[in-house]
Order: sequence, then C-alpha cells, then structure tokens
Amino acid sequence: MSISTYPPGNKLIGNFIAAGACGFAFDVVGEPNMVIKVSRLVDYGGVNPITISDFNANKSSYGDMVFAGAIGLNEFQAILFSQLYDMQKKGEETTPHLPKVYAFSSGEMQQSMLDEITRAYEYYSWSRSYYRAIMDNFHARKGKPGTRIGLWIMERVERAGKYDKVGSDSSNAKKQVVALNKWLREHNYVVRDSVNAGNWGFRKGTDEIVWFDPGVSPWPIKPEWEDDENIQLRNMYYLFKEGYGGGEIAKYKRKLENPTEYDEGWHQAEGNE
Ligand SMILES: Nc1ncnc2c1ncn2[C@@H]1O[C@H](COP(=O)(O)OP(=O)(O)O)[C@@H](O)[C@H]1O
Ligand SMILES: [Mg+2]
Repeated sequence: MSISTYPPGNKLIGNFIAAGACGFAFDVVGEPNMVIKVSRLVDYGGVNPITISDFNANKSSYGDMVFAGAIGLNEFQAILFSQLYDMQKKGEETTPHLPKVYAFSSGEMQQSMLDEITRAYEYYSWSRSYYRAIMDNFHARKGKPGTRIGLWIMERVERAGKYDKVGSDSSNAKKQVVALNKWLREHNYVVRDSVNAGNWGFRKGTDEIVWFDPGVSPWPIKPEWEDDENIQLRNMYYLFKEGYGGGEIAKYKRKLENPTEYDEGWHQAEGNE
C-alpha cells in the first residue's frame, strides 16, 4: 500500500498506518520504503533545567496501568533504536533481524509536528477516533514542557500485519528469532513479544525476518534500583516493572543462566500485545 500524494505543506507525516498504546506509525512523505514511528516517553519533570520526571511517582498521569506499561516499553525501545541508528551511521554492523534506521530523535513534541498530523488527518480523512487518540497522547500537558516523545524513521518491511502471514511464516520466524535473541543478549537487552505476528515482517524482496516492534529492555535490571538515589536507575527499575512485570527480573535472570537455551526461546508476554 504505497501512496504517492501527500498533504501539501507536510515534510514528514504521511498517511496513518496504525495506532498502539501510546505509539503511532505513519507513512513518510516522499519515501514509500520508510515508516515513521512516534511514541510517547516518560514525561518531563522540571523545566529549568529540564529533567525527566520520577516515573513511579507520576504513573497515574499516563492514565491506566496499561498505558504506564506502554511507556516503559516505548522508553526501552527508543534506547535500542537510538543505538541502532548510531551504530549504522558509523558503518557498524547490526543484526539483519532489526530494521535499518534512517533517523532518530527524541525530545519535546513540537507544534509543527502536531500541525502536520492535523493536515494529514484532514487530507486523508482518518477516522476521528485515531486523530483524537494521537492528540490526546501528544498535546502539551501542563503548559510547558510538552509531551516527551521518541521518533524514528525505519525501513518498511513487507507483510507486516498480523493477517498478512501465511502458514510457514511462523516456523521461519521461530528459527530466525534465535539470531535476534543472541544479538540483543550480546548487546545487553532482553526481548519479549517476538511471537506476535503483528510485530515482524520481511525485508523487502527477501525471506529475512525483521522485528520492527521488539519489546526490549536493557539488561540487567537490578531489584536494588527500586530505592536507589539516582532517579535514572530508579526509573529503569519501575519502567521494567510496568513494562515487563516485577516478577520477570528473576525469570529472565534464570533463563539467561543458560544463554544457548535462552537464545532458542520464543519470548512472549501473556496477552499477545
Ligand atoms: N517498519 C515497518 N514496516 C511496515 N509496517 C510497519 C512498520 N512499523 C510499523 N508497521 C505497521 O504498524 C503496525 C503497528 O506498529 P507497531 O510498531 O507494532 O506498534 P504498536 O504495536 O504499538 O501498534 C504494525 O503492525 C505494522 O502493520
Ligand atoms: Mg506492535
């Protein structure tokens, strides 16, 4: 589904592809082989100097707990995509099972991007509920600063949707996930949600499986960070607790004691998100 006309005045945001919890995917203006993902991250706290908020103390501001969990996974996914972008820019090899990343940025949502989203909504006549979901996620909440976001432009993979898959795809993914697990483990990440057929597709014209929505977390996460003085470590702990579930620290630790067995696993949270 590649389109060739874009909202006049837009430089980046094309048609709407899909909405998840606190994350949105769009076509990229003029680049039919790319997708832009915009996700909500942990809010800012203080303004002067600008700081990240205490995630645990402010969880309720994200709405229900499902959304706090999504913020956790978004934050961790942004760390990975930022690293992929940096490595690829330097010409370092990354795994073929993660996307090529053409641009990465994080910071405050800008009015100019919200305007692009509004123009795209009007141009393509998106459903109003999608538009409202985007605006509810991303407007400037308490005056200044606005919503903190991560955005990246990545390669568009083929047959990305859950219902685009055929019989043998899943057994192929189960074979190829071993290399993904290994690469991530060697770069200090664990992963979940890799079974979900709505999170992977095929590199254009190949049988290579690319996980464009891996539910990663930096690893290790330490239980003692729960009451560390350092807010960054505390946030890491609580983001993991919301995104993965507190009990998963011990489970992943146990699984990782045998790396080969870990790599061969097909890690999926309950609920198939
Ligand atoms: N790189 C990509 N290539 C092709 N389709 C994509 C890509 N990224 C996202 N999509 C499409 O958007 C949908 C939602 O994206 P995803 O990253 O899984 O976010 P979420 O799970 O939060 O909705 C996917 O199921 C897929 O159909
Ligand atoms: Mg997904």
